[in-house]
Amino acid sequence: MYGKISSLWISLLMSLILFCGEIHVRAYLGINWGRMATQKFVPSMVVDLLLQNGIPELRLFQPSFNVLDAFAETNIGLGITLQENFLRNIVEQKQMDDYIHERVKVYTDQGVKFRYVYVGNEPFTKSLYMKKQFNGTIRYLKMARDALDKFNLPDVKATTPHFTDILTNVSKPSEGDFREDIKGKMLEFLDCINRTGAPLFIHIFPIYSVNLYGFDVDFAFFDNKSKFKVVDGKNTYTNLFAFIYDTLVSALAKAGYGDMEIVVGQIGWPTDGYASASEKNAERFYRGLLQYIAKKEGTPLRPNRDIDMYLLGLTDENMVVTDYGPYQRHWGIYKHDGVPKYKIDFTLQDRDIKPSVAKGTVRMPNRWCVFDGKTDHNETLVLKDYDFACAKSDCSAFGAGATCDHLSFTEKVSYAYNMLYQMGNQDMKKCKLLGATLTTNNPSTPDCDFPIEILTAEVVNSGSGLTKKY
Ligand SMILES: *[C@@H]1O[C@H](CO)[C@@H](O)[C@H](O)[C@H]1NC(C)=O
Ligand SMILES: *[C@@H]1O[C@H](CO)[C@@H](O)[C@H](O)[C@H]1NC(C)=O
Ligand SMILES: *[C@@H]1O[C@H](CO)[C@@H](O)[C@H](O)[C@H]1NC(C)=O
Ligand SMILES: *[C@@H]1O[C@H](CO)[C@@H](O)[C@H](O)[C@H]1NC(C)=O
Ligand SMILES: *[C@@H]1O[C@H](CO)[C@@H](O)[C@H](O)[C@H]1NC(C)=O
Repeated sequence: MYGKISSLWISLLMSLILFCGEIHVRAYLGINWGRMATQKFVPSMVVDLLLQNGIPELRLFQPSFNVLDAFAETNIGLGITLQENFLRNIVEQKQMDDYIHERVKVYTDQGVKFRYVYVGNEPFTKSLYMKKQFNGTIRYLKMARDALDKFNLPDVKATTPHFTDILTNVSKPSEGDFREDIKGKMLEFLDCINRTGAPLFIHIFPIYSVNLYGFDVDFAFFDNKSKFKVVDGKNTYTNLFAFIYDTLVSALAKAGYGDMEIVVGQIGWPTDGYASASEKNAERFYRGLLQYIAKKEGTPLRPNRDIDMYLLGLTDENMVVTDYGPYQRHWGIYKHDGVPKYKIDFTLQDRDIKPSVAKGTVRMPNRWCVFDGKTDHNETLVLKDYDFACAKSDCSAFGAGATCDHLSFTEKVSYAYNMLYQMGNQDMKKCKLLGATLTTNNPSTPDCDFPIEILTAEVVNSGSGLTKKY
């Protein structure tokens, strides 16, 4: 009798395990962690966040030693970027070998699980900021592969991520092709990664593309609120993601690589800096995207497939270059103080949950540096200090339709003064601007938050801006 009950329990347990096994999906979600911010999370805090939330993969932009240290024996898959400022100085293979040894081989031996080495970032983009693009990508990619092979690291793949502007503008995905001016280099690049079995990484910014194509913004979400559709032969596209993905698939097929593996290296929705950038829309975007990925329905040209992707990103970055728009500083799922902005279930089970709060951040005192609003100041000089404060801090919340866009000029001066003061760790010297004064009364408005910064223990180099661009 007793034995029967326990065997019943065992079979119940087994079926539960099987059931759980079934809802577990193979597609993996990783996340990007850029550190172009004045106050940064410490690496151990990030490791904790990834483990707490079940995020198995992280993409890093600068392989700083203290960050790599934190990932030993964590089983978190890591991708690191070889930045252009490093690559440009390479004249011989030995320099690449030494770097790969120091940053990858040594840490592999210490139990860091490397998955990717990204050689540069978006070398073929048309972005103004990246105009200084360099010609070496393919050469450096081969050198990185050689170095990895030398240290017997065949499972660490070397590739270079690209932005969607490597593609021509199309009205239908089947028209997909690579831009004429970069086609030759792109073919050379594809040949290189095809030989080494590395996937093609693509960065997709739906908020950018929906605007570029002039599509209904709801088409960027996955909840069928948009009446807009794109009919392409026998295929119908009801969301922007599948539209862009299949445009790339078509371009690859024309180039002779119809089966090449595609990984989405960056995708997300920002929460400020632009009219449709908000926490509400970001939650809506991710909910739809993750349901879509979990269903494994794939796209019309690649149906019933897993699509692996890295979300953009872990936290806001108040120092990042904003060449596409002010929203680029607001990709974070977490606020700079470690509090999640909205609900998202990284485990693809569509639970209605907020991710766990980062442990270990310390908020600075409730003090703000504001403009006193007196009218007897020389306006030209106030304007000068306002411009100075914005240039040295972050006024991306003033973007058209953004959260602080509606402030009066006097309030905007206060906002800019406060940002300079907070990003300068509440150093009194940063509050020495015309008409500046300290207050303990929170100047925030219902829409526009005047943030208080956190103390940070992360003092090491955060990487050059050159390759770290969103
Ligand atoms: C890249 O190559 C093109 C054409 O060969 C050349 O005009 C350009 O100056 C090169 N750029 C750099 C940064 O070397
Ligand atoms: C696509 O269209 C946009 C907006 O008209 C333009 O800025 C961009 O250069 C075009 N891209 C290509 C590859 O033609
Ligand atoms: C890509 O690699 C595969 C597998 O090695 C090979 O069969 C195929 O011919 C390659 N494609 C091209 C266009 O070189
Ligand atoms: C949207 O519509 C498609 C096609 O009718 C359907 O398969 C899908 O489940 C719908 N998605 C949502 C979120 O309602
Ligand atoms: C304000 O300051 C500017 C720059 O120093 C100066 O040229 C201008 O005369 C001043 N205006 C007044 C009203 O004092």
